[in-house]
Amino acid sequence: MKQSTLHSWDLNGKRVIVRADLNVARNKEGALLDDFRLEAVCPTLSLIVKKGGTVTLLGHSGRPTQKISTLSLLPICEWFEKKGFSVAFAPDIKTAQHLCAKNTVQIVVLENIRFFPEENACNLEFAQQLARLGTYFVQDAFGSLHRASASISILHSLFPSSRKTIGLLVEQELKTLSTIINNPQKPFTLIIGGGKPETKIPLIRALLDHLSTILLCPALVFTFLKAVGIETGSSFVDDAQCDNALAIINEAKKREITLVTPLDYVVTTGTLTKPFPLLTTRNINTNQTGISVGPETIALFKKHLGLARTILFNGAPGLKEHPETLEASRCIFQVLQLSSAHKIIGGGDTVALARYFKYNDPTGFLSTGGGSTLAYLSGQRLPGLW
Ligand code: 3PG
Repeated sequence: MKQSTLHSWDLNGKRVIVRADLNVARNKEGALLDDFRLEAVCPTLSLIVKKGGTVTLLGHSGRPTQKISTLSLLPICEWFEKKGFSVAFAPDIKTAQHLCAKNTVQIVVLENIRFFPEENACNLEFAQQLARLGTYFVQDAFGSLHRASASISILHSLFPSSRKTIGLLVEQELKTLSTIINNPQKPFTLIIGGGKPETKIPLIRALLDHLSTILLCPALVFTFLKAVGIETGSSFVDDAQCDNALAIINEAKKREITLVTPLDYVVTTGTLTKPFPLLTTRNINTNQTGISVGPETIALFKKHLGLARTILFNGAPGLKEHPETLEASRCIFQVLQLSSAHKIIGGGDTVALARYFKYNDPTGFLSTGGGSTLAYLSGQRLPGLW
């Protein structure tokens, strides 16, 4: 496990480049809808400032292919100002250089790094330009560590090991998540659903050595059901992953891992435009789309979760944009809140739901990563680390 050397550095009068994950939910006008990831990077920024250093803050918002005002980091700059930091905004690298040289504020925030085409192109010259915006480098963009881009995977390589480290957020994420892969307390229950089976199935496979129980939720479960020939109607299925799902089913059987599929489903026959009719059924018909799980399944899940000593939750049942489909998710968070198990909640949408349900549990860890959490737990190499 990587440890941060930030604590031991003498940063008095020094400028530190911090790559953070500033990618938070925003509305169409660009207003911030969530500040979880911004709060999460504050301890690193505060520590640098407390040590007498100044920060050049790099981050992205959204997936822009060109400059678009609603994805500017200016509102994020204002957010940090409200937090009590003195901040200046640099729309381009030249201004950033100028503001860094002037050195009158604690944090210089460079505009959305993805407005620069060189970022996603992993351009070395661009990374070298960024590297000149400080003498130290701190990697604190946990949510982006799985991405290859100039500021994530190249920038760190331009600093000697004595002048680069991980930030406090990355340190905490790696420390907490590594308990899941190294020494989880048993029984260990994975509750997993949502889309992107190609990212969830490798996670399940990587955790098979440790798992006692797997609770499969929509939409992921439909790929498993289709793999064994059960009708899934027009529910989301990733046909390309059916063989992998089948391999997991067989492996779980061999290892005596309890693989739980729902007893009942919340389905709709309409299209997913509001309002759509919802009904609960044990078997999905050809014209139905599975969205969530019903009361019998919730009761069954509660029983399993009640026995667990470690719980990893990634991919909540229901559709986040349709609150009427979220009853099962609400119940799961309620059970987690009451459980004394070691709990980790990961995935952008799942963490957003935790916050929506005001899940406030000092014994539960909300990871700031989506894809990066899955990639780390699945044992993949993270380009943002060295
Ligand atoms: C995230 O939100 O998962 C990270 O910020 C990475 O964003 P990306 O998926 O657009 O690369």
